Parts: sequence; structure tokens; C-alpha cells
Amino acid sequence: MTPTPNQAPTQLISVADIIAWKQALEKGSTVGFVPTMGALHEGHLALIQSAMQHCDVVVASIYINPTQFNLSADFSAYPSDVDGDIAMLHSVGCHAVFLPETDLLYPHGVAPDHFDLAGLDGLLEGAHRPGHFQGVATVVNRLFDLLMPDKAFFGLKDFQQVKVVQQLATIRDSNPEIIPCPIVREPSGLAMSSRNRRLTPDQCADASVIFIALQAIADSQGSLSPVEIQSQMTGAIQASGALIVEAIDVVCADDLTCPDPMIPLRNHDKKVQVMVSAFAGEVRLIDNLTVYTG
Ligand code: PAJ
Repeated sequence: MTPTPNQAPTQLISVADIIAWKQALEKGSTVGFVPTMGALHEGHLALIQSAMQHCDVVVASIYINPTQFNLSADFSAYPSDVDGDIAMLHSVGCHAVFLPETDLLYPHGVAPDHFDLAGLDGLLEGAHRPGHFQGVATVVNRLFDLLMPDKAFFGLKDFQQVKVVQQLATIRDSNPEIIPCPIVREPSGLAMSSRNRRLTPDQCADASVIFIALQAIADSQGSLSPVEIQSQMTGAIQASGALIVEAIDVVCADDLTCPDPMIPLRNHDKKVQVMVSAFAGEVRLIDNLTVYTG
């Protein structure tokens, strides 16, 4: 199979195709990879577009990975629209899409591997979702092994996931290069997410309060302490009565450590990230923002 850069249609590829495909590439050509769980939106497409700017050929994968869901109800409810996804990938000129079967990724049974993720997997979102990041690392590692990309693109919407995948790449001798990409938002500020499809129009409108609350913290220019940030944000997000806050974490953006809870951010010289998780009904939403640049 010969790659068809910027031509229609997006090709469905198998592992055998990938090997032939890579052999057919000119020496020095770079392969970009965008792993997804499908139900694609503009946030995913921005990753594809970024990959297309950095790489000669781009492959996306679609696979709803069971080992990263700690709630089976969340796994069963995860939206899926493969035909719609392929049409969207085609619309931005993505060269190929990989739709692996579970047997290929988990030939010895559906269970996560264990990686030394430098403790990143047990923190923050990992504390609320035990095993989640080991599941992510497992599937991403297997996809990297199969596709052997030069660069892989991940959205900063999943801020901790980017750190985990960077750690995974370190374990793999810096292969592939991990390229973090900015969060894409709805006009209301709500971070785009496949899970937003499960929100009612009212919940969708109410959920924009998450970004508004994050921006208010950024506007306070480091004058608030982590404890004050948590209290102000919880109040703002829960005021409408439509959302329940699960966690608000104030962390150093580089290593996810927690700054002193009582001291205003501006007394540190570190970049600070606020990470939010909240429920709108049964739908878990996450977002984050750099609120202080240090
Ligand atoms: P999924 O949630 O489908 O996301 C795929 C990629 O799209 C991730 O890198 C995610 O951060 C990025 N993304 C999602 N919404 C975004 C937005 N609004 N702006 C920018 N990027 C966005 O993340 C996963 O799948 C899985 O954990 C996966 C890495 C595929 C492993 O199973």
C-alpha cells in the first residue's frame, strides 16, 4: 500500500499495511500518530491538523480502550460513530486510520501492563480513577509498538495524560516524540469532549461555568492561595446547581506537585495549573488552565 498524502479517501489500514506503508515511504519521511477513542470532534481534528503540519504522513487510531475505564458503566456508555469519524478524518486529509481489534492489542487477555510512571499515575485524576493511567499507558505503548510513529500528538485537555505519556516515551528511549497540543473549546468556553454528546442542551450551557471559573482565577494574577482557589471555584461551579465538583487541584505545571496550600501563587516563581473534574448528571467533565505563569 502506498501512502496518499493529502488525497482522498482516508485509508483503513491493518498492521500488514503499516509495514508495507512504512517501507513505501521515502527515506527521512516522518509518521505522525494521533490515538483516539473516536466520537471525534474539532479537538481531535486539531491534533490531526497539527500532525499534518509536523509530519509527512498521519495516522489516527480509534479504539475504546477497556483497561482505562475504572467504571464499566462509563465504558458501556462511551459514544461511538466510526463512519462519522472516518468522514471527519477524511475532511481534514488524514492519510490513514487504524481500527484495531481487542485481540490484537490484548492477545493475552484484557488487562493492563504495569509501568513505572514515576508516581504520576496515582496522583490527582489517578487517585479518583484507580488504574486509569496504567490502562492508558498500556494501550498507548501497544499502539506505539504497532505503528512505530516518529511523533505522537496529545491534547492538553488531558493534562495529566500528557505527563504520563511523556513518562512512557522516556521509558521507551524518547520514542516517539510527544507533541502536546492546546485545548480546543466551544464558543462558550466549554472544552470539547466526546462525552459532551451525552449532555442535554441545558447541561451543555451550564457546563461553560467551568471555564469561566478557571478564567476568573487566571485573572486574579496569582493573588489567591490554592485553598482560596479551591473554595472560589467550587462555589462558582456549583452555584447553578447543575454541576457537582469532584476535584479542583492546584498544581505546579511541570511536575504536578502541590504548591503550599495557604500561600498566594505569586509568592512562588512556578507555573501553576488548575485542574477541574465535575459531574453534569452522570457525565464526568474535565478541564484545566494555566492560571499563573510564574
Ligand atoms: P480521547 O478522549 O478520544 O482523546 C484523544 C486525544 O484527543 C487526546 O490526546 C485528548 O487529549 C485529545 N483531545 C480531546 N479533547 C480535546 C480538546 N477539546 N482539545 C484538544 N485535544 C483534545 O485520550 C484518549 O482518547 C485516550 O486516553 C487515548 C490516548 C486514545 C488512549 O486510549
